[in-house]
Amino acid sequence: MITFDSYLSVVPRYSKVAILTNDTLKPLYADKLQAELLKRGFVTHLFSTPPGEAFKTRARKEKLEDMMFAKGLGRDTCVIGLGGGVITDMAGFVASTYCRGVPLILIPTTLLAMVDASIGGKNGVNTPAGKNLIGTFYRPEQILMDLSLLRTLPEKELLCGKAEMIKHALIADADYLDEIDVSEKSIRRSIAIKEQIVASDEKEQGKRRLLNFGHTIGHAVEMHLKIPHGEAVAVGIAVESILSNNLGHLSQKSLDCILHSLSAYPHHLLTYETLDPFLRKDKKGTNQEPRFVLLQDIGFPLTFDGDYCTAVKDTEIKEALACYASLSSVPRWI
Ligand SMILES: NC(=O)c1ccc[n+]([C@@H]2O[C@H](COP(=O)([O-])OP(=O)(O)OC[C@H]3O[C@@H](n4cnc5c(N)ncnc54)[C@H](O)[C@@H]3O)[C@@H](O)[C@H]2O)c1
Repeated sequence: MITFDSYLSVVPRYSKVAILTNDTLKPLYADKLQAELLKRGFVTHLFSTPPGEAFKTRARKEKLEDMMFAKGLGRDTCVIGLGGGVITDMAGFVASTYCRGVPLILIPTTLLAMVDASIGGKNGVNTPAGKNLIGTFYRPEQILMDLSLLRTLPEKELLCGKAEMIKHALIADADYLDEIDVSEKSIRRSIAIKEQIVASDEKEQGKRRLLNFGHTIGHAVEMHLKIPHGEAVAVGIAVESILSNNLGHLSQKSLDCILHSLSAYPHHLLTYETLDPFLRKDKKGTNQEPRFVLLQDIGFPLTFDGDYCTAVKDTEIKEALACYASLSSVPRWI
C-alpha cells in the first residue's frame, strides 16, 4: 500500500491543503493522502468529483471553488490535484485562478497524465464549443511521479497513455517507437521530449504545436464518439499519418510501421460528414479551418514557413478518413 511518506515534505508548511480528486481515486489513494496530511498537522480538505471527461467543465470548476470557499480556504491554500489528466487539468485551472493563483502540486495517477497531461503547465476545461477551450498556462510547483499508482490502472487506460508516448516518438525520437513500455525509463523519455518542446515555446506560439500531432482528428473523434482521450489520439495519429502519406510527405514503409505500432487500439467507424462539425472547432484552426501537424518521417515533423501546422484541403481529409475506414477489414491492420 502506498504511504505518501516519502514525498509529503514538498507541501509548503504555511499552507492549508485542498486535495482535488475523483470518486474512484478517493478510496484508492486520496483518503490516505488526506489522513497523512492531517497527521502532519495540515488543515486539509478533500473535494471529489465523479470521474470522467464529462465533468471537466466550467460548472464543475465553479462548484469546486465554491466548496473551497465554504471551507474558508483562502490565499494560503495549496491545491493538490490527484488523478488522471481530467483532474490534473481541472486542478491546474482551479489553482491558477483561485484567489488569483495559489501553489499547485500534481500527483498524476494515469500513464497519460504522467507522460503528458501533468507536464508543460497547460490546463483547462471543455465547453460545448470544443475541448480545452478555456484554461491557462500555469506551472505546478511540484509533480510527484509514483509509478506504484499505476498498479490499479486498467489495461485500457495504460494503452491510452501509450498513445501519447507514440506521439512523442513520432514527432521527436524515431528510436523510441520500438522501445515504448510502461517503465520509468520510457516515462522519463516522454517527459524529456515534452519538456524540451515546451521549453522552446511555453505559450504555444510555434513549436509546441507539434504536441498536437494526432489531436486535430483526435479531439474531433473524442467529441464525436465520446471515447477516452488516448484512444481518440491513437485514431488521430493513424489518420494524420495517412494524410501525411497521401500528401506525399511520409513513405509507405514508415506509414506501415506507424500503423503497426497502433495495432492494439480499437478501430472506429468514422466518416468525414460526422466528423466535420467537430473539426471546425480545432483550436489551432483559422477561420474555422482545421490545421494539421504532418510528418515527413518517423521522428521528423514538417515545418511550413516556420509554422508547425498547416491547413489541408477538405478532399484530402475526406480521403485520409476513407483510407482509415478501409483498414477496418484488415485483421490487426497490417
Ligand atoms: N494539459 C495537457 O497538456 C494535456 C495533455 C494530454 C491530455 N490532457 C487531458 O487529459 C485528459 C485525459 O486524461 P486521462 O487519460 O488520464 O483520463 P482520466 O483522467 O479520465 O482518467 C482515466 C480513468 O482512469 C481512472 N483512474 C485514474 N487513475 C487511476 C488509478 N491509478 N487506478 C485506477 N483508476 C484510475 C479515472 O478515474 C478515470 O476513470 C483529457 O481531458 C485530455 O484533454 C491534457
